[in-house]
Amino acid sequence: MAKQEDSFKKIVSHAKEYGFVFPSSDIYDGLGAVYDYGQLGVEMKNNIKRYWWESMTLLHENIVGIDSAIFMHPTIWKASGHVDAFNDPLIDNRDSKKRYRADVLIEDEMAKFDDKIEKEVAKAAKRFGESFDAELFKSTNPRVQEIAQKREELHTRFAKAMNDNDLAELKQIILDYEIVDPISGTKNWTDVRQFNLMFKTEMGSTSEGAMNVYLRPETAQGIFVNFLNVQKTGRMRIPFGIAQIGKAFRNEIVARQFIFRMREFEQMEMQFFVRPGEELDWFAKWKETRLKWHKALGMGDHKYRYHDHDKLAHYANAATDIEFEMPFGFKEVEGIHSRTNFDLSQHEKYSGKKIQYFDPEMNQSYTPYVIETSIGVDRMFLSVLCSSYEEEKLENGETRVVLHLPKQLAPVKVAVMPLVRKDGLPDKAREIMNMLKFDYACQYDEKDSIGKRYRRQDAIGTPFCVTVDHQTLEDNTVTIRHRDSMAQERISISELAGIIDSEVSLKNLLKSLV
Ligand code: GAP
Repeated sequence: MAKQEDSFKKIVSHAKEYGFVFPSSDIYDGLGAVYDYGQLGVEMKNNIKRYWWESMTLLHENIVGIDSAIFMHPTIWKASGHVDAFNDPLIDNRDSKKRYRADVLIEDEMAKFDDKIEKEVAKAAKRFGESFDAELFKSTNPRVQEIAQKREELHTRFAKAMNDNDLAELKQIILDYEIVDPISGTKNWTDVRQFNLMFKTEMGSTSEGAMNVYLRPETAQGIFVNFLNVQKTGRMRIPFGIAQIGKAFRNEIVARQFIFRMREFEQMEMQFFVRPGEELDWFAKWKETRLKWHKALGMGDHKYRYHDHDKLAHYANAATDIEFEMPFGFKEVEGIHSRTNFDLSQHEKYSGKKIQYFDPEMNQSYTPYVIETSIGVDRMFLSVLCSSYEEEKLENGETRVVLHLPKQLAPVKVAVMPLVRKDGLPDKAREIMNMLKFDYACQYDEKDSIGKRYRRQDAIGTPFCVTVDHQTLEDNTVTIRHRDSMAQERISISELAGIIDSEVSLKNLLKSLV
């Protein structure tokens, strides 16, 4: 675990050192759980967003996008249930004076049982060698069975307490399992209480006329309240979807793990409107579609898993997370929810406006059901960064730091370098860069030795380095260096665009999804 924490710290400092992510208000010592994206970070973030947006709106004729305002009428949050129920169970430790989410403390305790099981499996795998069958071992070994049973007991109790909103029981679980504060090491806990996560502010120029408004905690409601606008003006027929990318804000109790849990973050959400009764089929389809989208990036299929929810949100009749293996364990990157007709019905009730769809095939009006896919841009960014970072030992004994970013998401696609800063090589390199820059994010670099320049590009994940040397002036060939293999090949300048395009273009990635 210490090793993983260490590697995570290195990733965080690498992100800052190379201009991916900075703490917000850095010169004022930062602001809790708020971050800024730097010159490379913003490019990578935009590439992630483009991948998502185009996979939704280009690949599905029946999905359109919108961009709704962050401020919305405050009654929307009453209708959606966020004013009353968008809470986290909070607990304080009296000794460390630190605040925790009670559910997270218990989930961490459950993860300890999982770790124990994995350790037993690893030990046995060593003992039995190649013939070892992990699944068989897990289902028959008495020690593993005993740990699994204890985990299940805790899980059942926890799930019930969460579903019943039983705060006293959550505290009792923490006491019974002797969960201690990781900082003070004590069990001196307060009672568990609910904490609403929405940020409130005032809108209006006079104090008497001011109205309390919220910073939206999800982008989804902007889609629901525009359902009729889009359906009518776009002549959309069910099933159809509305996609949106935008900022969301949550006053998180525990903000940690860098950009994993932020107070200001960005979501990419799509609400897919379907006939009542068909929602669970669509839920299964979207689960599959979204996992395929993730896996297409080639970061390793084994790094993903589904996690079905124990406690369903107040609006859902089925929910799953797509989790990614971060350095601090498998964590949620995306949520897929079957939200029933809850939101549209609530807005109909609170606004007094009829929100129904007339289905010409059924010759009947109804309130559509909704499948939601909701992914955090920042969490996606973190998963890409973490899975790409490597300190690679080279054959010559040196180490290089390299980001094996999915090439389509890399902030810089090509670095163009003259071997030396004379003999007309810089002019030729500029000429090549001017040819490529309309299609690909390029960097021109002529400082330091060629080896140092390669390392700089490896550290920011640039898939290709193109080097211009004296031979280039004679025969219009260059060397192209591949980031991951470090292999170099001599090719003609006219071949460059084709080679680069085949690996970095979003088009090929999108084609792999259909
Ligand atoms: N509209 C549904 C919704 O908001 P959610 O599971 O609360 O569902 C969806 O959030 C996604 O938004 C999560 O899977 C995660 O990627 C991202 N997310 C949620 N809270 C976040 C936070 N505090 N910081 C960064 N990303 C967050």
